[in-house]
Amino acid sequence: MPNETQDSYLPHPAFAANVNLKNQDEVYRHAAADLEGFWAERAREYEWFKPWDKVLDESNKPFFKWFVGGQVNIAHNCLDRHIKTSRRNKLALIWEGEKGDLRTFSYHALNREVCMFANILRSMGVKKGDRVTIYMGRIPELPIAMLACAKIGAVHSVVYGGFSVEALHGRIEDSQSNVVITCDGGWMNGKVVELKKIVDEALKRCAMIEHVIVVRRTGQEVQMEAGRDYWYHELMVLPIARGNSGGNRCETEVMDAEDPLFLLYTSGTTGKPKAIMHTHGGYMVGVATTLQWVFDLKEEDRWWCTADPGWITGHSYMVYGPLLLGVTSFMYEGAPTYPYPNRWWSMVERYGINILYTAPTAIRGLMRFGEAWPNRHDLSGLRLLGSVGEPINPEAWRWYHRVIGKERCPIMDTWWQTETGMFMITPLPLTELKPGSATRPFPGIEVEVVDEAGKVVPVGEEGYLVVKRPWPGMLRTIYNDPERYVKQYWSKYPGYYFTGDSARRDADGYIWIIGRVDDVIKVSGYRLGTAEIESALVSHPAVAEAAAIALPHEVKGQAIHTYVMLKSGQQPSEELAAELIKHVGHEMGPIAKPEKVTFVPQLPKTRSGKIMRRVLKARAQGLPEGDISTLEE
Ligand code: PRX
Repeated sequence: MPNETQDSYLPHPAFAANVNLKNQDEVYRHAAADLEGFWAERAREYEWFKPWDKVLDESNKPFFKWFVGGQVNIAHNCLDRHIKTSRRNKLALIWEGEKGDLRTFSYHALNREVCMFANILRSMGVKKGDRVTIYMGRIPELPIAMLACAKIGAVHSVVYGGFSVEALHGRIEDSQSNVVITCDGGWMNGKVVELKKIVDEALKRCAMIEHVIVVRRTGQEVQMEAGRDYWYHELMVLPIARGNSGGNRCETEVMDAEDPLFLLYTSGTTGKPKAIMHTHGGYMVGVATTLQWVFDLKEEDRWWCTADPGWITGHSYMVYGPLLLGVTSFMYEGAPTYPYPNRWWSMVERYGINILYTAPTAIRGLMRFGEAWPNRHDLSGLRLLGSVGEPINPEAWRWYHRVIGKERCPIMDTWWQTETGMFMITPLPLTELKPGSATRPFPGIEVEVVDEAGKVVPVGEEGYLVVKRPWPGMLRTIYNDPERYVKQYWSKYPGYYFTGDSARRDADGYIWIIGRVDDVIKVSGYRLGTAEIESALVSHPAVAEAAAIALPHEVKGQAIHTYVMLKSGQQPSEELAAELIKHVGHEMGPIAKPEKVTFVPQLPKTRSGKIMRRVLKARAQGLPEGDISTLEE
């Protein structure tokens, strides 16, 4: 949790002189005075097959609609639009593999590959509205697969490659996908992650998958099931990849602005992850506008978002945002410290990265290795830095600012969520910065900090963060569960979007995010639900009941601590604890492995049987237990 800091930073004059958006205050004013006019003006920057009739439709709250009646396709705006211009031969993507292999794609080349793969998907019967699960390592075929889906109107559901069997199975089944796109394996920290093997195991638990398309990356042997599994490289040389009109062209599907673009599963309060649904039109406008203004992108910039496409940051600001703006993105496959802790800095230098957008956990992790590693590299190309995923502690902020940004580069601390789709609270390049604060809401966004009853809390006091007005990049629903959408986000404070975060506002109106108020844990910036970890534990035959809580961790921000009640006849032991940790890793993925398993004879519960994680947390930290009047005897 960041402490409120006293120091503040104005942009370096040399930087400020070249910022695109000089009239920040005017932009805030315009958006506040005319929300629809503001977003309409932004939307007109992109190509629409048919213009919208209405910018914002609030007739069926909270099922807001944006750019109603408009027809568009985000993939058209990411690719087709640029290849008609001088951007055609500009690099869209530079990719480096963990072992140092390099691949580059111009806009023309990326479009060609996307068209071919879209033709393949169409030939397999994938059509508008069908769901496709993508489960891959960080390689170019991942954005290619996402864009190919978008192009033909299919709805992609990317599952992070660090998730494992049960997490993947649940997401395939819930989305009712018929096709899975994966790779044989991925490189991470010098080791192969056996992605295809995990897919095989997940598919044993669900039957509806018709086709599995496998990209060859690592080259290790994998099982290919005849009639179900196909190699990507074999499909891509088939005549069908050339499309009906030949020339590797593929017609882009005309979509309604409100048609779904993707589902992205995220953790909430129950064991079942929810499929957040985003659309073609509003999401496109929101993501492109925020990226363009917050990170001051210029035609010649090289942008690096270090996220994984398996999370919202990767969707919005690694794949769609940069392509919408026609900039050059860099993407790296592997671990930040492989083979040495200078890997990132070496790539920043070698590829001339101008803007780096990463997570506090990565900064803290790299900080541990000392300044000598970055100092060996010429980082003078960097112009702007960014942070996302969790509150950044002022110490890490200052290190990032001084050692990486050489006190020249402002840090854009962007607060947002899978659900918001786009930055919500963030500085603009000329904003005065305070380490640890995401500063102010983006133009057109209105937030408030309220108490339990919905009353605005006084300056400096902690409260719940809510959003007061709809925004174009907002989630439209939870796929298959509109009631949960209403209940989760719009019921606590009717009319307001409930973020699940607590925050404070200071006397200057700056927002300081404190953290989640629900059962969501942020481990190294990755969002996990305590309930999912608990259900993974309970799926082990020795476990009767389990509780998971988050405790502070120096590098990861939060770490998972679990309390396990064994079934009768089972004996606690160190071996069993290790086995349980491994079991969670197998079911959920390595990121969800508990830091610690503690065996307990009983779990603290309310009389109605709900586990009181708050009590466990207080006990673990030696803090007061608070109100325990509902605790069972
Ligand atoms: O608690 C907030 C934290 O991450 C949550 C959203 O997680 P997720 O949906 O995985 O999206 C992460 C990437 C956008 C939020 O509810 N969070 C995100 N960014 C920040 C943050 N907390 C503080 N400062 C941030 N900049």
